[in-house]
Amino acid sequence: MTGRFVTFEGIDGAGKSSHIETLAEWMRHRGHEVVLTREPGGTPLAERLRELVLNEPMDTLTELLLVFAARRDHLARQILPALARGATVLCDRFTDASFAYQGSGRGFAPERIAALEQWVQEGRQPDLTLWFDLPAAQAAARRAAARAPDRFEQQDEAFFERVGAGYAARAREHAGRFVRIDAAGTPPAVRQQVLAAVQAHGWW
Ligand code: TYD
Repeated sequence: MTGRFVTFEGIDGAGKSSHIETLAEWMRHRGHEVVLTREPGGTPLAERLRELVLNEPMDTLTELLLVFAARRDHLARQILPALARGATVLCDRFTDASFAYQGSGRGFAPERIAALEQWVQEGRQPDLTLWFDLPAAQAAARRAAARAPDRFEQQDEAFFERVGAGYAARAREHAGRFVRIDAAGTPPAVRQQVLAAVQAHGWW
C-alpha cells in the first residue's frame, strides 16, 4: 500500500503553515504515520539550497534550477521512501509553487517548468493539493505583521497578484486534485475547510 501525498499552496501571507501542523496532529491522533515537510527543503541538502534560494541574489533561471534540484533530493530521499512505507506526506509547497512563483511571478513559460517537472518527478504528482486562496492585498497586510522578509516576501503586490493568478490557473488545469480553501476566514473557519477537504476524500 502506498501513502498519500498532500501539498499546501498559496501566496506568502495566506496563512497555511499553522493549519498544516493542525492537520498533522489530527491524522496522528487517528494512528497514521505523518511526515511533515516543506519545499524548498525537507532534507539536509535541500535545506541548504533553501537558504541560498531565499536569501542569496541570483538570476531567475538559477533560482528555477535550484528549486528543482532541491525537489529532486527531497523526492528521492524523503518523499518517495515515506510514501512507499505507507506514510502520509504533508508538504508545505511543491511544484505548483514553481509554476506560480517562477512561472507566473518571474515569467518562465509553463512548458519550460513542465519539462523540469517531468524530468525530476517522473510522473509523480500530489494526490491532493490544498490551495489557500487570499487576495494579494490581504496577504500583504498579514505579511507586514510578520518577521523579516526573504527574497520572495520583498516582492511588490503586482508580483503576488501574478503568483495568485498562477495558482488559479493550476487549480483549473488540475481540478481533480486541487481544493480551494478560502483563506480570508477566521482560523477556525479555515481549519474547518481543511478538515472537510481531507475527510471528503475518505482516505483517513
Ligand atoms: P514559505 O513556504 O512561505 O516558508 P515560510 O513561511 O517559512 O517563509 O517560503 C518559501 C518561499 O519559496 C515562498 O516565498 C515561495 C518560494 N518558492 C518558490 O518560489 N518556488 C518553489 O518551487 C517553492 C517550493 C517555493
